[in-house]
Amino acid sequence: MFGNRFFWGSATSAYQVEGGNIWSDWYEWEKMVDLESCGRAVDHYNLFRQDFALAYKLNQNAHRLSLEWARLEPSPGFFNQEAIDHYHQVFSELRRLKIKIFLTLNHFTLPAWLARQGGWENYKILDFFGRYLQLVIKEYGQYIDCWLTINEPMILATEAYLFGHWPPQVKSSPRFMKVLQNMAKVHNFIYDYIHKHYPIAQVGLPHNYFSFVPLRSNSFLDQKAVKRADDFWNRLVLNLTQDKHDFLAVNYYFHQRVSFGFNWRRDWIKFADPKKLHKEVSALGWEVYPEGLEQILLNLNQEYKLPIYVTENGLAAQNDEQQKRFIINSTQAVKRARLAGVQVLGYFYWSLLDNFEWDKGFKPKFGLVEVNRNTMERYLRPAAKEYAAICQERI
Ligand code: FCB
Repeated sequence: MFGNRFFWGSATSAYQVEGGNIWSDWYEWEKMVDLESCGRAVDHYNLFRQDFALAYKLNQNAHRLSLEWARLEPSPGFFNQEAIDHYHQVFSELRRLKIKIFLTLNHFTLPAWLARQGGWENYKILDFFGRYLQLVIKEYGQYIDCWLTINEPMILATEAYLFGHWPPQVKSSPRFMKVLQNMAKVHNFIYDYIHKHYPIAQVGLPHNYFSFVPLRSNSFLDQKAVKRADDFWNRLVLNLTQDKHDFLAVNYYFHQRVSFGFNWRRDWIKFADPKKLHKEVSALGWEVYPEGLEQILLNLNQEYKLPIYVTENGLAAQNDEQQKRFIINSTQAVKRARLAGVQVLGYFYWSLLDNFEWDKGFKPKFGLVEVNRNTMERYLRPAAKEYAAICQERI
């Protein structure tokens, strides 16, 4: 069904796994708030060879990872040779294992010096990103099989500038919009820039797609609310980036039952609490609904006719059984979409390793591989073996 050309892999992001990213904005922020800090994370910076060996052993033929911009450029215009050399080793190792490289250029964090100058709100971010991108292309362009520009602009922009949960903890609709527009501008710029250097490069934007259903299926108002939610969460970024996609990169975590109702943002969208509806939830209280992935893939295929990669899909599992079932059901959802004619070319499980889940710290366990953070030892979870069988049998 999936064949030899399908990409089976898992995903990570630099800040969440590497450890020691002391030049990043998140690191600065952690010092000011009362939340668990990332610290050594899971020491992937030093243990990447061991981790890639595990991915290889688990029959994965592709891997999604990101560069930590702040590590490469700890102060404006100064590039750190040690960091440059490090990522050469990282990419060479993946190459040696014949694991295809899906690179995210920016996964939520910025260099602290840039954040101090306004980060995504500063229109100069285009120039700063350009300088960084120039380095990335010169040093690493040759290794990259597939380019992912900016991870989940909607999630970053809402969490950091609309809901005020993430640094710099702003709650402002105009500032949120400005940030989102700047992120879209940078994406569009990256898209053109990479294509100038590599005309046949594959470039996309990992976007967090929600699956929405009306809470009361025959309520006209709830259907209206679904439309509003879809316009905002699913479409806004695509509208701002238009034709700058060689493929769609789907991150899927959220199935929401939507009703029409007042909230402080006055957008008249309410998401039901799945626990109150007695739905199955993850350890983070997110509804477990793999079928939503199939629906998203079918919808996107109808509208865009572009190839699709599932660049993230995973679960903060309550237990091993739940994680195993989730992987089976999610890959089955992808299979059904393919059978229905959707051109899905790859699937990346989030995540290879347990890691630092942003403001939620290390408690949520997303990994195929469990990490003991005292000893940094790695242990395969039962779901890792289940996924390895799926990757091998290509069913
Ligand atoms: C996604 C993020 C990723 C991880 C997962 C659980 O939104 O891209 O870094 O935190 O959620």
